[in-house]
Amino acid sequence: MFKKDYLLSPSILSADFTQLGDQMKQAKDAGADWFHIDVMDGHFVPNLSMGPVLVNACQRATELPLDVHLMIEEPERYLDKFAAAGASSLTVHIETCPDMDKTQKMIHDLGCKAGITLNPGTSADTIQPFLKNVDLVLVMSVNPGFSGQSFLPEVLPKINQIRKMLDEINPEVLIEVDGGINPETIRQTYDQGARIFVAASAIFKHPQGIQAGIESLTEKL
Ligand code: DX5
Ligand code: ZN
Repeated sequence: MFKKDYLLSPSILSADFTQLGDQMKQAKDAGADWFHIDVMDGHFVPNLSMGPVLVNACQRATELPLDVHLMIEEPERYLDKFAAAGASSLTVHIETCPDMDKTQKMIHDLGCKAGITLNPGTSADTIQPFLKNVDLVLVMSVNPGFSGQSFLPEVLPKINQIRKMLDEINPEVLIEVDGGINPETIRQTYDQGARIFVAASAIFKHPQGIQAGIESLTEKL
């Protein structure tokens, strides 16, 4: 039987928070592999979202891994709180981590997978020195801060470039893509080497519901 070669990580940022547990269950039943949790501090990005309390609520709502995306300055100050709340992976921005080796080690010492991410305007070369110790690479395909933005096609060559770097340095590592993923864009990112797909609005705001949103994406893969 065909075995799928990708992971789907719905971002709860577009969920209905009055029914979060139920919506997460619907997403899991429809094929979600992880849940993506967007943490924003109002400094690194111009929006505020959620913190460890919500990560812990998600942990109690699902047994799926929690893929925590830290869009915050000085993430080192909060890593232990997110790990204790139940994060499976902690993904930090290259733009916020002056000593990325140290930050990755802190994440691993807390028992979490370490992810590295970069904004659309940041070049792939900036993360190259850190790929040897990383567990996932998240390529932002919108400027972070909000769900519902349009995919930036100029990141497509960067996905391909990072896939080639990883094939040399750390071939097991998967590339995750985040921002503007919808039935039109998901396949383009897959074709460049992305294998973990984050989507908020395409899943939780789909007019026919969460299951239809997930199917609209996975049918393209
Ligand atoms: C953007 C966040 C994304 C966002 C994606 O800052 O990192 O995870 O929730 O939302 P959509 O899928 O609607 O672009
Ligand atoms: Zn995200």
